[in-house]
Amino acid sequence: MYNFDEILDRKENNTKKWNREYIQKRFKDAKEPYYPLFIADMDYRLPEEISKGFIDIVSRGDFGYFDIKDEFKSDIKHWYKVKQGLDVNLDDIVPIVGALTTMNVVLGEVLNYNDKVLVFTPVYGPFKDITLNNNLELIREPLEIKENRYFINFKRLNKKINDENIKCILLCNPHNPSGRIWNTEELKRILEIAKKNNVLVISDEVHGDLALYNNSFSSIYKLKEKFDNYIVIGSPNKTFNIASLNVGYALISNVNLKDKVCEGMMKRKIHLNILGAEFSSVCYKNGYLWVKELIEKIEKNIDLVNKYLRHIDCSIMIPDAGYLIWVKFNKIDDSLKFSIDLAKKTGVLLECGNRFIDDYKGFLRINVATNSSILEEAMKKILEFYNEI
Ligand SMILES: Cc1ncc(COP(=O)(O)O)c(C=O)c1O
Repeated sequence: MYNFDEILDRKENNTKKWNREYIQKRFKDAKEPYYPLFIADMDYRLPEEISKGFIDIVSRGDFGYFDIKDEFKSDIKHWYKVKQGLDVNLDDIVPIVGALTTMNVVLGEVLNYNDKVLVFTPVYGPFKDITLNNNLELIREPLEIKENRYFINFKRLNKKINDENIKCILLCNPHNPSGRIWNTEELKRILEIAKKNNVLVISDEVHGDLALYNNSFSSIYKLKEKFDNYIVIGSPNKTFNIASLNVGYALISNVNLKDKVCEGMMKRKIHLNILGAEFSSVCYKNGYLWVKELIEKIEKNIDLVNKYLRHIDCSIMIPDAGYLIWVKFNKIDDSLKFSIDLAKKTGVLLECGNRFIDDYKGFLRINVATNSSILEEAMKKILEFYNEI
């Protein structure tokens, strides 16, 4: 059994989640000690069987130009087979740098000036940045809430794609901030509407490895026999908390699209670094058991948060996947003011709804990937603060 309560001491490492300077920039006058439950980053230490692999790479001491080893792809292929029962073609795997950089390149390469990109709101804020950065127009399609769960309004989606002449859907699956997994039927409907209208679907699946409560996560790649109007963006970054290594992969079965993406990376001289490329393999080879226990720890921490929030006037979206909980605090409208005031009075740092583009009124996101005592302490403080407003 791994001990997820012995967390890393990250305060002096310039990590965004724990660094004082960054926290003061984001949360003015936040009280110390901090209880950082905001940025999507985990506090857990990787086990020795994984971190040892990193030391082995470093101890070779060779950091010159390199070619990516074949095992980069074969380890991803094996991971998909074990985790999702999916057969990935080795030729469909494209090594990429971080998810955002790659989606930025894809939008720049595949779309044309002023083309329209549709996102389901609320959603991960940088989707807006990468769209606008590429001189594209962002079209919002609000998700609907039924019994604390998001749903896509397919009738409206169909009409909007037609009426607005949408060229691309940027899908987040599992959905950040709510952790909703879009099921195979929903994915099929999205791809069908997209195919009919000549629309590309980019499916950001970086949270996909952390399906909770025996939910199964299925990549949109599962539908590759019927469709090829998609690009999957995947990564070990969230699963193993290695975002700073800037490594990921795309799954692309359409050869033209794949060539465009590879060309876009080459043109811009974007290359994977050796540490990210090789450590990705180390994680995927050795991480099965650790990820299984990580998921159990996240489930326990979500239960803990739920136990406290049950007593206050709020609506909790229990995630299907990932370590983030999206909560609507019914007593508040202005979540930014709430997050700043909460930080100032208690040191608890939550991700404010306004970082998720639209349709976030009263919402904040709680990251549970820390040790249980920090989380419990933070929950007590949130409750006390909320009950007083
Ligand atoms: C949905 C989603 N996509 C992409 C990213 C960023 O990934 P990367 O650091 O690989 O660019 C995040 C980070 O939180 C995320 O939540």
